[in-house]
Amino acid sequence: MKAYHLILTILFVLTISSAFAETEIRSGKDIYDMACAGCHATGVLEAPKLGSKTDWDKREKQGFEVLMIHALKGFKNMPAKGGNPTIKDQEIENAIKYQLAQSGFDQYKEKSGSTENNKPAPAKKTADTRPKIIPEAIPETKNIAKIKQPKKTRTHSVNRFNRLMKPAAEWNLSPAKDGIHDPENEGTLLLQPPKQAFESLSNAKSGNRVDWVKSLQNKEISPRYDRLSDDSKPVVMDLNIVREVKGSMPDVVYPHKQHTEWLDCSNCHPAIFIPQKGANQISMASILLGQQCGVCHGKVAFPVSECRKCHSQKKALKTGNGK
Ligand code: HEC
Ligand code: HEC
Ligand code: HEC
Ligand code: HEC
Repeated sequence: MKAYHLILTILFVLTISSAFAETEIRSGKDIYDMACAGCHATGVLEAPKLGSKTDWDKREKQGFEVLMIHALKGFKNMPAKGGNPTIKDQEIENAIKYQLAQSGFDQYKEKSGSTENNKPAPAKKTADTRPKIIPEAIPETKNIAKIKQPKKTRTHSVNRFNRLMKPAAEWNLSPAKDGIHDPENEGTLLLQPPKQAFESLSNAKSGNRVDWVKSLQNKEISPRYDRLSDDSKPVVMDLNIVREVKGSMPDVVYPHKQHTEWLDCSNCHPAIFIPQKGANQISMASILLGQQCGVCHGKVAFPVSECRKCHSQKKALKTGNGK
């Protein structure tokens, strides 16, 4: 696989936030708020709602074991572990018990891994100790070295890679010269130069001149989804979110499909975006500052200069035939 090294690097960086997952067992409420509420609070995709005994009644009757297996392995529209593979099995158990207890099944009260938990194992937990992955903590490619040696802080402008702010005169430099890899690390010299690796991939006019979405679609690349396992498959979610844009620009269509083909839900939820349509205030200004969509776009995904890739839907006309 020609692009193997590069893809691996990108995926490593994008999934590294999960590597920070702490070792303690988190409470049912913490897990629910973080990974289940997105669907179970309002009943997205017909998920049984928290607090609704009718929604949960038949399901509870299947027995706890069945619920566990379904939550762990995925069930119909629900991805395994709510789409967040870093959650521990014990934590999923806590979250289901929390959901049941909150939906009127008193027998599950106090069993959802809270401080009053009468089981011996889990560490003491309070509401505020789950890991806070803030957007800034999602590392940029160039900071891999920094992660290994947290003391040595290097500061770069967030827009260093943003080709809208500073169009690159040259692109796809060799690894030793690209400012991303450590030129003093001998491993850098072993990497295949991107120009060579990208030769056979679908072209784009911007960024690193590769259309990664097309390349994946056309099977020109088949990146590992999980760095440590060669057979795990992504949970692809085909859900478009249309964001109406004030002014004359076409509306933004955010496609879950193209993202979840590469990315785990936890790359975006809940650190960058609350998983609820319209719940996030998104603006071009913050994107250009490297926040929100700009955490990736302009750095490890196509740059912000490609307006039409995001602003892809014509505004619905007020007078007209509704199209
Ligand atoms: C992407 C949306 C989504 C997320 C996130 C999600 N669920 Fe679900 N869940 C669903 C849907 C949809 C169903 C109903 C599936 C069906 O029966 O069609 C469901 C059903 C369930 C059930 C009942 C299964 C059964 O056998 O009837 C349990 C238990 C459950 N979810 C637990 C969880 C837990 C725990 C989390 C968080 C770790 C979670 N879910 C996150 C969508 C989601
Ligand atoms: C690249 C970032 C990204 C990834 C990865 C991602 N999402 Fe989202 N998600 C978003 C954005 C952006 C929104 C819209 C938020 C808004 O409109 O304020 C959203 C919205 C949602 C919503 C709310 C839908 C609604 O109609 O209210 C759910 C549920 C959701 N995501 C679940 C998931 C699940 C499950 C996964 C993994 C399979 C996932 N997301 C992966 C960015 C992402
Ligand atoms: C966690 C990283 C990340 C975030 C955050 C993110 N994206 Fe992406 N996005 C990607 C990657 C990776 C791709 C696929 C590679 C590429 O197209 O450069 C992609 C692809 C896309 C595509 C598909 C383009 C096509 O050719 O089909 C669109 C549209 C898009 N993103 C819009 C958005 C919008 C809008 C937001 C903010 C609401 C956003 N993205 C946030 C990483 C991200
Ligand atoms: C990575 C996806 C993406 C790209 C690329 C992109 N935009 Fe946006 N843009 C958004 C999102 C998301 C919003 C917020 C929409 C909303 O209000 O919910 C937005 C909002 C806007 C707005 C409304 C005002 C504001 O600041 O929120 C304007 C104007 C705009 N974009 C212009 C542009 C122009 C011009 C380009 C190209 C130079 C561009 N955008 C490229 C995603 C993108």
